[in-house]
Amino acid sequence: MAPRSVLVTGGCGFIGSCFIRMLRERDPEVEIVNLDLLTYAGNPENLPGIADSPRYRWVRGDVRNEETVESLVGSADWVVHFAAESHVDRSTAGKAGAFVDTNVYGTFVLLDAVRRLRPECRYLQIGTDEVYGDVAFPQMPDEGAMLDPSSPYSASKAGADHIALAFARTHGLDVMVSRCTNNYGAYQYPEKMIPLFVTNALDSLPIPLYDGGGQVRDWLRVEDHCEALLLILEEGRPGEIYNVGANQEPERSNLEITEMILECTGASASLIEHRHGLRPGHDQRYAVATGKIRDLGWAPRADIQEGIASTVRWYAENRGWWETIKSGAYREFYEAHYGRPAS
Ligand code: NAD
Ligand code: DAU
Repeated sequence: MAPRSVLVTGGCGFIGSCFIRMLRERDPEVEIVNLDLLTYAGNPENLPGIADSPRYRWVRGDVRNEETVESLVGSADWVVHFAAESHVDRSTAGKAGAFVDTNVYGTFVLLDAVRRLRPECRYLQIGTDEVYGDVAFPQMPDEGAMLDPSSPYSASKAGADHIALAFARTHGLDVMVSRCTNNYGAYQYPEKMIPLFVTNALDSLPIPLYDGGGQVRDWLRVEDHCEALLLILEEGRPGEIYNVGANQEPERSNLEITEMILECTGASASLIEHRHGLRPGHDQRYAVATGKIRDLGWAPRADIQEGIASTVRWYAENRGWWETIKSGAYREFYEAHYGRPAS
């Protein structure tokens, strides 16, 4: 049944904002409440044209705050929980407390409010394939595979998945978990590999490729991910986990993705700067079995080469969006992490 009211957390971030834009387009009547604290990664400009909509409300608040959350869950038919600390490099830089706090405790606060105030709603926990850890080729973990997270980020996301599934079993809540592979597309904060490499290439800045670039990620267009999430919300079964991934064939290494970016931007390969030691515990390969979500009728639409090309075009045409970020507080992280100025 179509929801009347949806509570989205983290809707000013990269994936949450795409989800809100898509939901709004699908059903202009649905009421959307976006609970987002606006950390460094949140940006209301990711929701152009939506802020003034009478059926949209942004609450600047913290998912860890019981009172705030209690005031918002009461009328939600769906609760879709994106809000998180999401960058692996920040979690390995010695400040992992924020990851445990937001990702694990924040998830608990939200679920506990649902349990008490809105137990009939549908709750979707937005998870990651990183919880399966480093996956040796040619393995493809399915939803029952053991969790073996490598970084404080992925460990905190595994903790959040466990809390969510425990609430389904213990309290009989209608909770589901999705576990998606690496997303890319418009409005992605330029700390992540693809937007960082694209924007650096556009500015002829060094491209910091870690550890030889042989690592594999199963890149998925953010729109394909959000389509999968809507399908899970519409058709998924309570208590179930759904992997979501492109299953790229052939699998693409970071170096191959970098070469695609160089080709699309026309930048020189001499910009590649090989860096070592910036990603301790670096996972070499992620991959997931996606038969379960495909059985629901989902398949990714975007081809990786076309997807990278259109993503490059978006960043080239929306310089103002990322130049503001790269010249703001992000500079401090960049300089501390990469040991050189961001521009
Ligand atoms: P993001 O970092 O772009 O956005 C996170 C959003 O959450 C921001 O708007 C931020 O302001 C908000 N937020 C952070 N802490 C908060 C708090 N305490 N209370 C309220 N809001 C808070 O992240 P993203 O890349 O859009 O990822 C969204 C979700 O999807 C995360 O849960 C992440 O683990 C998961 N995920 C991401 C990917 C990926 O490739 N980016 C892949 C699979 C799963
Ligand atoms: O798999 C899903 C996950 O994908 C999500 O859960 C995370 O929120 C999201 O950040 C992403 O995690 P990754 O660590 O895989 O993404 P990131 O873009 O940080 O790195 C992708 C690859 O690129 C990884 O092998 C490290 C490499 N890399 C990254 C950066 C930032 C570089 O070579 N240089 C860089 O500067």
